[in-house]
Amino acid sequence: MTDTLTTWGGWEPAIRDDPFDHFAQARDRCPVQKMRLADGHPAWVVLGYDAARGALHDARISKDMVAALQDNGDVVAEGLPGPEFSRHMLNVDPPDHTRLRRLVSRAFVPSRIAALEPAIRAIASNLLDELDAAGPGATVDLIEGYAYPLPFRVIGELLGIPSADRPRLHAWFQVLLTGWAGDPPPEAVGASDGIVAYLRELVDAKRQNPADDLVSVLVAAGDDTLTRQELLSSLFQLVVAGHDTTASLIGNGVVTLLDHPDQLEALLADLGQLPAAIDELIRFTAPVPHATFRVTAAPVTLDGAEIPAHEQVLVCLGSANRDPGRFPAPDVLDIGRKDGPNLGFGHGIHYCLGAPLARLEARVAFEELLGRHPGLRLTVDRDALAWAHGDGLVLRGLVSLPVVLGPSRSQR
Ligand code: HEM
Repeated sequence: MTDTLTTWGGWEPAIRDDPFDHFAQARDRCPVQKMRLADGHPAWVVLGYDAARGALHDARISKDMVAALQDNGDVVAEGLPGPEFSRHMLNVDPPDHTRLRRLVSRAFVPSRIAALEPAIRAIASNLLDELDAAGPGATVDLIEGYAYPLPFRVIGELLGIPSADRPRLHAWFQVLLTGWAGDPPPEAVGASDGIVAYLRELVDAKRQNPADDLVSVLVAAGDDTLTRQELLSSLFQLVVAGHDTTASLIGNGVVTLLDHPDQLEALLADLGQLPAAIDELIRFTAPVPHATFRVTAAPVTLDGAEIPAHEQVLVCLGSANRDPGRFPAPDVLDIGRKDGPNLGFGHGIHYCLGAPLARLEARVAFEELLGRHPGLRLTVDRDALAWAHGDGLVLRGLVSLPVVLGPSRSQR
């Protein structure tokens, strides 16, 4: 039988750099459709806003891929670092999800997040001092020097990773999150092994000497509440979920504001608009273009599409957030948009646990950067910017962002 399914993901670089026209064409054809992924497996891709929101809170659509796919041959390949690190809240359903999320939530209570603001501001300010040291006319890379290290240091603080250990962990994660096609290259396997060994040692060290950090909280929860596999998996997931995403938001946000000088000017006139502007930048730039894979545990009808049990579901948040049925003029960036919440942080029980932290980090990052360097500009052609992508599904962010910061406001 001929396979008539359209392929989703693994696009040519130009589409991966700017996927939104591609998303719109697919969404216009049909908001929920069965497609073939670049790895050859079929999946139902959800592109419309209502269907996406419905899929994300439907209890019949499971996150436990292994249990729900059964033996239909469509199991998504286990990524690095393997099964010992895959038992975290984003890979399980209730009641395990409820238990794991509740434990980790202790580190994310609003008072604890708010208390991080001075530390985040100091990190941002120190990073800008380092970039300023290159001189006002020098080209600096805002990803390497600011967008990436800022959330990485913050998640290090939250977890209690000693600062001396962060550079090697950072280097390993950079290798691991670069993405590749097919089997992982040896350097990725090496990086994964390094992270695994490091997190095991960290857990043992916190068991000996507990401190006021998340690793100690989870270790103290003890083996009755949390298995060692769940503990290690949770730590790994928090580091992954907690830095590249926010780094992409900061980088995508800066370049998008430079693309829209009227919006940048309006924002500079009143940085108090940042909280709303950040939500609009998440909607518009899709730092996380797709939610993680799900699978139907029972037959489900989504926007008229009948999806049988045991089939993969991939929700395209980047498309849902540009659905004209939900957001009028969806391809217009409007930092004052008042259309209500978008799906950039997901929806339902797996709604991003780190959303308040990510919003705080992004607000402080933009306040410090734009407050000090309102005249920053790109030093390469807009089209020459390099976007990082593996299969184009999980993360959307820049490899580098060369800019001249210009004199700082205090030097003007
Ligand atoms: C701009 C930054 C971020 C974006 C766009 C983002 C986006 C998302 C999305 C879309 C999901 C849901 C995935 C799904 O349902 O398949 C999610 C889940 C999650 N995120 Fe984030 N995230 C960001 C930052 C963070 C940060 C800073 C942390 C923690 C430090 C974090 C921790 C988590 C966790 C723990 C989950 C799993 C929640 C659960 O399964 O109950 N995220 N995030």
